[in-house]
Amino acid sequence: MAPSSTDPPRVRLARLPTPLHPLDNLSARIGGPRIWIKRDDLTEGPAGGNKLRKLEFSMGQALAEGADVVLTAGAAQSNHCRQTAFAAARLGLRCHLALRGSPPSGAPDGNLLLDELLGAAVTWVDDDAFDDLPAVFAEVGEPYRAGGRTPFCIPVGASDEIGAWGYVEAAGELAGDLDRLGIRAGHVVAAVGSAGTHAGLRIGAARYGLDAAVVGISVSRSTPELDERIDDLADRWRRRYRQPADIDGDGSEVLDGHVGPGYGLAGPEVHDTIRRVARLEGIVLDPVYTGKAFHALLREIAAGRFGGPGGGDGAGDVVFLHTGGIYGIFPHREQLTAPG
Ligand SMILES: Cc1ncc(COP(=O)(O)O)c(C=O)c1O
Repeated sequence: MAPSSTDPPRVRLARLPTPLHPLDNLSARIGGPRIWIKRDDLTEGPAGGNKLRKLEFSMGQALAEGADVVLTAGAAQSNHCRQTAFAAARLGLRCHLALRGSPPSGAPDGNLLLDELLGAAVTWVDDDAFDDLPAVFAEVGEPYRAGGRTPFCIPVGASDEIGAWGYVEAAGELAGDLDRLGIRAGHVVAAVGSAGTHAGLRIGAARYGLDAAVVGISVSRSTPELDERIDDLADRWRRRYRQPADIDGDGSEVLDGHVGPGYGLAGPEVHDTIRRVARLEGIVLDPVYTGKAFHALLREIAAGRFGGPGGGDGAGDVVFLHTGGIYGIFPHREQLTAPG
């Protein structure tokens, strides 16, 4: 498709703007910078999360191309897949998910249960085949094409140059929030998986004058791998939309020292942080993304970053982006209910 310098197609799915509010009970206990939370877990009640912002653009593009089926892929408990199933149902499109692994032995739970409720079709794909997603999409899409339908493929996490728009625009929203509240935030902290959220925020920070470094907390991949992805995403966005994406030397970064035992796994310290934030602030984080990222934020503050304990070094406040993922607590039910 020819690059365009016009606004990208967009369909409204998320309840925006999401709230931004301080976590004063927690900030007072930590004695570091004031922590604010941007509630992107509330983009649409139980169907909410960061993907809905991206899907406004992915689905917008799908509709602009005349698609009537969307294909996407992810882990069995993918938040992205659940939000795609939601968006498709809302827009009257078919949704077909390629999920990594094999079907559960019992009844579906968590996001998978919601995928089913929302009417998504599911194809289970083993690890080796999943590494070649274009081939998976070609195979899953074939019967639809043969039946005269028009499938549209959305990559894992909607993390391509189209979906990145969701967080380009979110950066503009956040800049407006901070202006209105008269806050100076030196840092925005968020979990990084497929990196579309992080890349979009950085492009948007430059575009909308959000004067804050974006600190990504990797939940799986190494910093060099993510840096490469982020540069590639920014480059593709720049080329497709012919607009500047000035992310070099912006002071933002991705930290890979908080992955812990691996993707989807969390140590007891992360479960403790989830309990602590729930009890002090009435906010529920998940063990796969937001709990890990929030725990990393607390560790970094304790190590003197972002103003450190005592705060007040002029680094400004910190905004934590809550990207959703609540259904991720259920597979960790035993660890989360351990005495604490
Ligand atoms: C709850 C939650 N937070 C954060 C992320 C990471 O976002 P991204 O894939 O854009 O890096 C995801 C991705 O699946 C997610 O589900």
